[in-house]
Formats: sequence, C-alpha cells, structure tokens
Amino acid sequence: MRLRVDGVESLGLSNVVRYKLKINEYMNIKNTHTQLAPDLRISPILTGLWQIADMERDGRVIDLEETAQGMQAYFDAGLTTFDMADHYGSAELIAGIFAQQTGPEKLQLLTKWVPDANGPRSKERVREAVERSLQRLQMDKLDLLQYHAWNYADPSWLDELFWLQELKEEGLIRHIGLTNFDTAHLNMVLQSGIRVVSNQVSYSLIDQRAAGAMTELCQQHDIKILAFGTLAGGFLSQKWLGQADSPTEELATWSQMKYKRYIDIAGGWPLFQQLLQTLASIAEQHDVSIANIATKYILEQPAVGGVIIGARLGQSAHIQENTRLLDFELSSDSLSRIQEAVAALQPIPGDCGDEYRKPPFLTASGDLSHHLSSLPAPYPVQAVREGRQKALSGTIWEDLAGFSRAVRTGNRILVSGTTATHGNRMIGGNDPACQAHFIIDKIEGAIQSLGGKLEDVVRTRIYIQKMDDWEPISRAHGQRFGHIQPANTLIRADLIGDGYLVEMEAEAVVGD
Ligand SMILES: NC(=O)c1ccc[n+]([C@@H]2O[C@H](COP(=O)([O-])OP(=O)(O)OC[C@H]3O[C@@H](n4cnc5c(N)ncnc54)[C@H](OP(=O)(O)O)[C@@H]3O)[C@@H](O)[C@H]2O)c1
Repeated sequence: MRLRVDGVESLGLSNVVRYKLKINEYMNIKNTHTQLAPDLRISPILTGLWQIADMERDGRVIDLEETAQGMQAYFDAGLTTFDMADHYGSAELIAGIFAQQTGPEKLQLLTKWVPDANGPRSKERVREAVERSLQRLQMDKLDLLQYHAWNYADPSWLDELFWLQELKEEGLIRHIGLTNFDTAHLNMVLQSGIRVVSNQVSYSLIDQRAAGAMTELCQQHDIKILAFGTLAGGFLSQKWLGQADSPTEELATWSQMKYKRYIDIAGGWPLFQQLLQTLASIAEQHDVSIANIATKYILEQPAVGGVIIGARLGQSAHIQENTRLLDFELSSDSLSRIQEAVAALQPIPGDCGDEYRKPPFLTASGDLSHHLSSLPAPYPVQAVREGRQKALSGTIWEDLAGFSRAVRTGNRILVSGTTATHGNRMIGGNDPACQAHFIIDKIEGAIQSLGGKLEDVVRTRIYIQKMDDWEPISRAHGQRFGHIQPANTLIRADLIGDGYLVEMEAEAVVGD
C-alpha cells in the first residue's frame, strides 16, 4: 500500500509510520532542547538569575551554598540552562558551586559581560572579564558569553567583540552571544565577520520589537533569540488579573518596576487588564495558566530559541507550572485571539535594546543610574585654540592627509567625509546599509566627543559608489535621521579605497 503525505514523496505505510515517528521525535527535541550551536544544546525554558542581584540589593550577600541548592529542583525538572551575568550579584558564584556538585557537563551556564562604560578599553580588560567569570563559575570554558554594548557611537564595542573572538579561538569561550543588540548592529556584527549564535532581548506579548526585522535577520543567519521579560516580571499571570494598578515605587521587585514601565507605555493598566482577561479565557480552554499562555506564545515565535524565566532561588519557584509549557500546543483560534489582543496595545517604540540606550529608559530605575554614571567621549578631543576643538578617530589618514574626524568651532561641528573604517578594518562587509550605519555611528561619536548629539545635525552629504546602492543607503540614513530630517545631498562619486560603498559628511549646530 502506498500513501501520499504533504511534502513527502510516496512512501510505503511503514515509511509513513517512520516519518511520523521522526516528526514526533523532532517535536520532542524541539520542545525539550534548542540546538544553539552544534556543540551547545540548551533547554528552551532557561532559568534567569538577575533576581539574585535583586535579592542582594541591600548590600547583603545571600548564603551561596544554600542558594545553590535552590538550583537542584530546576535541574531535576530538566531545566538545565541558567542565564546570568557578571553584574547579577552572586549569581555566577552560586551557579559555580552548583556546577561543581552536579557536574558542569550536565548544565549550560550562560553568562554575560556588561562592560563598565568608563573602564579602560583594552584587550587585557576583556581577558580579565572572561577570566573572572571562568573563576566564579569554576569552569575552564564559558558555554556562552553574551556581550552588551552601551554606546554604538563608541567603536570600542567592536574592538571588544573582536577581542572576545580571539579569546574564543584561544579556547576560553565556546560561543559568543549578544544581548540587547538592535537589528542594524546585529547585522554589523555579522557582516564584519564576528560569529555569534544568539541575541538575548526583551520579547513578550507587551513588547513585540523583536518580531519583524530582528526575527528575519536572525532566521537568515541562524541566530537564536533568547527572550526575556516573557512574563513581564510576573505581571503576565493570574496574580495580577483584576488587580488595581500599583505605583511603580510600591512594587516588590526590580523586575516588576521594569515591566510596569512597559505596561504604561503599551497603553496603561486598563488595556493591560483586557490582555490578561483574554489570556485567562485562552488559558482556561487549554487547561493551563495565564503565565503558560504568555510564555508559550513567545517560545513558538520564529527564531526564538528559548524563554528566560526569572527565578528568586529559595524564595519562590514556579517550576512545575512552567514546565507545562512543553506539554501543550496553542490552537490556531487561540493564536489569532492573542494576536488581536497584542495588536490592541501601543507598540513599544524603537528596536531591541533601545531601553538601555535612549529615553524612555525602560529599566527598573527608569534611567541608567544602576548601570552608568556617564558615557565617556568616544574619540579623543584636543583644543586647537580658544573656541576651536578637534576630534580624531585615529585612522592613519587623519595624520597623513592632515584632517580631523570633526572640528568644533563655536557651536558648529563639521564632520569630515567618513567611510566605514575602524582601525585597519572595514566594517559592514559589502552591505551598503551596514556600512552606512557604521558611518553614522562614527559621525555620532565625533559629534558626541565635541559636546553635541545626533539631533544637532543640520546637514548631511552622502556619496555613493554604485547607483544600485542608493536605496539601502538612503533607508539607513532614514532610520537614523528620520526624526531629525537634516538638509541632505546624495551624490554618485568614485570613492577612494577598495570595498567602500559609501562616504558621508555632516554638519551640526549645538544648542541652537
Ligand atoms: N539581558 C538583559 O538585559 C536582561 C534584562 C532583564 C532580564 N534578563 C534575564 O531574564 C531573566 C528573567 O527576568 P525578568 O526580569 O525578565 O523576569 P520575568 O521572567 O519576566 O519574571 C520573573 C518573575 O515572574 C514570576 N513567575 C515566574 N513563573 C511564574 C508563573 N508560572 N506564574 C506566575 N508568576 C511567575 C516570578 O515572580 P515571583 O518571584 O514574585 O514569584 C519571577 O520572579 C533574568 O533573570 C535575566 O536572566 C536579561
């Protein structure tokens, strides 16, 4: 007997059965593991340890051994992957203790390096950061080191990633990931030859910024999105259904303080309650919880490799409930009802990670005071004479040909013709939009160094090498200058230097 199955050639019955078994096996693997890289398999529900820093917020260090025991129940439930960072209080130390007891090969400990923006920009510092995490985790190789960049206008973030890549080649890091990268800069990383496997970003029913362009890019390059905030600090659960709005200052955890800001921007408490009501009725149909529906929807989105659910180890656990995520499927009717409820919210503006780079800062404190005191000038500045300063980006040509990256005279800043050069590297490969974004970062960095901001730009000139590239370059300019709309000229020109597709210059007037 021969049967026909969609997408499968005619098969004998026994082959169909085998095919179905294969599908089931695939579904199980998809449900129980995500292959982040050929040699790194993680659980699709990751346990997040930022909450440790919150538990230590009064300066007290929690009992490390006792808290490490709190990881056992997650491990026993098959949740073998934990997410942490160098700045999550004692999280790395606790995970290191647990790894020693359990066997590090049975766990996946994903950490982050979130550099001190004011620290030295050197290879030694990157090595120290990696060695510190290795020491705290008691491991000789980090499974995944996720990198955060504070200011794209300061190109030292690229140096740090290239240095991390060297440490990976040396064997200290298995894989590099990113966190809070936007689409343009994730693309810049990829086009510049840095291999990353993941981007950890906020992605929830309330925050849909990772859907669309970010998802498409991740799919094209087989990058997995690791989604945090899927429960909005617990707001997306039964506990808050029908509850009155609470002022941010009265909320119990940093996580709630953070996501209350998202709820306010997404349309406020009454609209949020409508979303919860829809989720409650869907949850009832599926005989699961509101939290399950909220996380399942995100887990099922394309490119998502896992949802990171925060845990207050030793204080509160939702392990049994959260593992139910893997045991049900959302019906198509439920999916459309969720999509409708999401569409009724106001979109969170901008791209992934903007909450750490620009207003409105969607952090626990509502600003960057927990993270940064100030941002250093991206480029060195020298006084030329009274009322005139210059900023140098350090390319050999600035000395050889005798020009500055930018000059400030009075309140005017003039930025030289800028290509996608960083040190002796070209950034952005042969992607014209990507080169354009890096050039605008350099222009922004030069203007920041001289006391201005991108919003002060009143004129840009764009020179393009190939006629065909005008559109992606113009679109990149539009993404960055759309809210400013300076005067602009676009010119076709023979650019100097192999591979350069675009050059731009700019003029800004500070504080007019
Ligand atoms: N890369 C970044 O910039 C970044 C930023 C934020 C977070 N993260 C990562 O993401 C992790 C998650 O943190 P998050 O702040 O986004 O929090 P979240 O996962 O949205 O919320 C965590 C809270 O949700 C509650 N919860 C968990 N399961 C539940 C369930 N089944 N039913 C009801 N409530 C439930 C718990 O609250 P109770 O403890 O009150 O029970 C838990 O503390 C962090 O630990 C960190 O690893 C990364």
